[in-house]
Amino acid sequence: MNIILLGPPGAGKGTQAERLVAERGMVQLSTGDMLRAAKSSGTEMGKMVAGVMERGELVTDEIVIGLIEEKLTGGDAGNGFIFDGFPRTLAQADALGDLLDRVGQKLDTVIQLQVNDDILVERIVGRAQEAIAAGKEARADDNEEALKIRLMAYYKDTSPLLGYYYAKGLLQQVDGLGTIDGVASDIAKAMDAVS
Ligand code: AP5
Repeated sequence: MNIILLGPPGAGKGTQAERLVAERGMVQLSTGDMLRAAKSSGTEMGKMVAGVMERGELVTDEIVIGLIEEKLTGGDAGNGFIFDGFPRTLAQADALGDLLDRVGQKLDTVIQLQVNDDILVERIVGRAQEAIAAGKEARADDNEEALKIRLMAYYKDTSPLLGYYYAKGLLQQVDGLGTIDGVASDIAKAMDAVS
């Protein structure tokens, strides 16, 4: 089963994707993680995207579609893909459809994690504070200024995907405000509903 976890920054996409990897042997494709890995290993692409990510803006469609293409055409599909933080624009959504067709796969469901903005801010600022308290480096974009831009990018560029996937009959909504276990159980129900 191939699924998209869709939602604003801090909605819990990464947290829930990790659980699905552990519990169902699925493969997490997080463009955010791939871009951060490129940044920390100092590749040309990593250097190019560092400032954009730090400001909370979106990286170009071309770069992220290229990253996903590489994984879909060359990687192990495990028990299905979890797209985490991709697609984020209509162009990316179209490209994902084409890529899945090319590799003979399809999208089974799109799960929207719903969380209100004040909680998102709390979670992101909380994550930055936790990192600092543990003597680790906080994510460069986990601050209020970058978060405002990340949220704006979500509402402007990513939220149109809700209508796009609804029209395809693929969208399901899950309340992302419960406990991590509670949200995981609602995601499991949403996945079971289409399996
Ligand atoms: P990306 O890494 O995708 O970040 P994001 O979408 O902004 O979101 P987060 O990873 O912060 O949130 P999440 O929903 O995964 O929540 P999480 O589980 O971590 O993107 C970063 C940047 O890369 C972008 O701004 C852009 O520049 C670039 N980029 C990436 N993909 C791109 C694309 N496709 N196109 C263009 N540019 C792209 O949880 C957050 C916190 O909340 C954690 O501390 C967690 O423990 C906590 N939490 C989670 N669930 C719960 C819960 N139920 N209750 C309480 N706390 C919870």
